[in-house]
This record gives sequence, C-alpha cells and structure tokens, in this order.
Amino acid sequence: MTICTDSTPSLISPNIHSQQWEHPPVKLGILASGNGSNFEAIAQAIADKKLNAQIQVLIYNNPNAYAAKRANNWGVPTVLLNHRQYQQREELDRNIVATLEKYDTDLVIMAGWMRLVTPVLIDAFTDKIVNIHPSLLPSFKGIKAVEQALSTGVKITGCTVHLVCLEMDSGPILMQAAVPVLPDDTLATLHARIQIEEHRILPMAIALLVR
Ligand code: GRF
Repeated sequence: MTICTDSTPSLISPNIHSQQWEHPPVKLGILASGNGSNFEAIAQAIADKKLNAQIQVLIYNNPNAYAAKRANNWGVPTVLLNHRQYQQREELDRNIVATLEKYDTDLVIMAGWMRLVTPVLIDAFTDKIVNIHPSLLPSFKGIKAVEQALSTGVKITGCTVHLVCLEMDSGPILMQAAVPVLPDDTLATLHARIQIEEHRILPMAIALLVR
C-alpha cells in the first residue's frame, strides 16, 4: 500500500514535442464518472503523438456518463461498473482491478473518477494510479474544490495531478497549474478555466511519468 506523505508542490512545465518513440506505449486504464473531457484530452494527446500511450479501457460508474460516448468515438473499449450494484467499496474495487488486469493495464488514470478508493485498488496498482483534482492541493480537497476556492475568496487556484494513495487527494504531487480567480467568476466560469489547464497538464504529467 502507498504510504501517504506530505506532498510537496512542484511546478514543472516540460516542453513535450511530437516525437518517435523508443519504447512501446504505456497501457492506460482510465476511470471516469462524468463528462470525460480529461479522457478526451488524453486520447487527443496520444493521437497528436505528445504522449506515448494506448488507452486499453475506459471504466465508468454512471450509466449516463458522457465519457463512455467519447470512448466509443475513439474506439476504446468501455466497461460499466455501476457502484450502486455493490454493497461495499471493496467489492467495486475488486471488479475494477479484475477489469484493469483483463485489459492488461500498466497505469491507471482517474480522470474525473468520483469514488473513494480502498486498499484493494491501491495495493494492486501501487504508485501506478494518477488523479486530476481541480485545486492547488493541499488546498481544497474533496468534491467541492472549485466552490471552496470561490467561497474562501482566494485569488489563485488551479489544478493538481498527483499519485493516488488511500487518503483522499493526498498522494505525491506530479504537476500543478495555477488559475487566477476573477472578481466576477461563477462556479461555471472558474471551473471552465481550470479545465483548460487540466487538459494541458494531465497528459503532460502522464508523459513525464511514462518517461
Ligand atoms: C475535473 O474537474 C477533475 O478535476 C475532477 O472532476 C472533473 C472531471 O471532468 N476530478 P471531466 O469529466 O474530465 O470533464
């Protein structure tokens, strides 16, 4: 199991150009609960040859998740694991692990995955699970990160790509991007600007890890 440590923010902005790859692509299993714009950003980065990876499977937990439609458009296999059909989180995670293994996954990406993880998943993919969170961690953990940024009145927020450990939104930080909070920002406008940065740094952070 990954031990949670205090994470030290690091601002890294590598310039990743299109290139020929020396190694086989890393095999990604992506977990998403909703819209899937981060899934799309990863798929596009692969298509643009900015990321040496291959998406093996999209696992989604909400039957109406638009992420599944996006995966279909990219020809990526999808598996619905509806959390409502499992009594315990561990049971859901056992099915996630079995699916990721079936699709021969090297690296797991939580791209808007709105479920808490258990040791079942963490132990099966130790230090191989990446999450994107819409705040500059360790500020504003949890599901209402953008709301928290607005209500506390911070002038800068952003997004964080980090490794996942058992404690929510607390694993080692891989990459962050800052986003200013504007005086007339609403939840929608601020989140939209944060997402522009998410789509930029999530593929970039995966590319760094893969290297
Ligand atoms: C993103 O803002 C991400 O940071 C958070 O959930 C949202 C998912 O967006 N964890 P999308 O489904 O990728 O569009």
